[in-house]
Amino acid sequence: MSVHKEIKKVTTHTLLEMKKRGERISMLTAYDFTMARIIDEAGIDVILVGDSASNVMAGHETTLPITLEQMMYHAGSVVRAVNRALVIADLPFGSYQANSKEALHSAIRMMKESGAHGVKIEGGREIKESIERILTAGIPVMGHLGLTPQSIYKFGTYSVRAKEEEEAERLLEDAKLLEQYGCFALVLEKIPAALAKKVAESISIPVIGIGAGNGVDGQVLVVHDMLGMTNEFSPRFLRRYANLYDTMSSAFKQYSADVKSKNFPNENEQY
Ligand code: KIV
Repeated sequence: MSVHKEIKKVTTHTLLEMKKRGERISMLTAYDFTMARIIDEAGIDVILVGDSASNVMAGHETTLPITLEQMMYHAGSVVRAVNRALVIADLPFGSYQANSKEALHSAIRMMKESGAHGVKIEGGREIKESIERILTAGIPVMGHLGLTPQSIYKFGTYSVRAKEEEEAERLLEDAKLLEQYGCFALVLEKIPAALAKKVAESISIPVIGIGAGNGVDGQVLVVHDMLGMTNEFSPRFLRRYANLYDTMSSAFKQYSADVKSKNFPNENEQY
């Protein structure tokens, strides 16, 4: 008899069943092996290799500069760490917008070279063909509506989206279309809670919110933000579950002091 407890992997089907049961879905971003291992072992359902890597890992101001190759590197590092969670990778800006053939090519590269379990792309009806073409290859697609950071230069700000009726109606229509095209789930970013709840109640695929209130089927946060490593970023929706900035900073300062005072390494820490 095996002593190892069999791990039940999370699939797109699992998420659909969770929505049906009213069980909330937990999702966090990760970009590297070590963080992904901790997140997976903590039981988070979905790991998103977000293009927020462009900000938190590479220090860019927006998500636009990160490349498909860089996203595949991050996604591969995450996939190697994970035993249970579903790993979804963002297709970065410029890798799917030109046409559906390019979208399929990028999605295939992501799946083949990183081992991710599916891709996320931003947009509504305007990316219909790309979604449908990616799906023809059997690649699960997660949608993303509301504040879509790859379009930041169109919006001009990172403020709450779809506050006006016209934009809210269009977003609801787009959500229904994404379900119709075959997306297995949808991220809603920074929109009014009432609208997000209405979307979640209007479609049968899981809706994962970030800054979209508590009426949706799951929540996602950027891991560096929820761990309190990025203390210059404080949107209302962000709950910090740790203050790693201070913890890490005092560890670095103590280490530096120990090196300079010749306290480190001591006799037990050498050969
Ligand atoms: O890139 C990212 O981290 C995301 C989440 C904010 C949903 O898309």
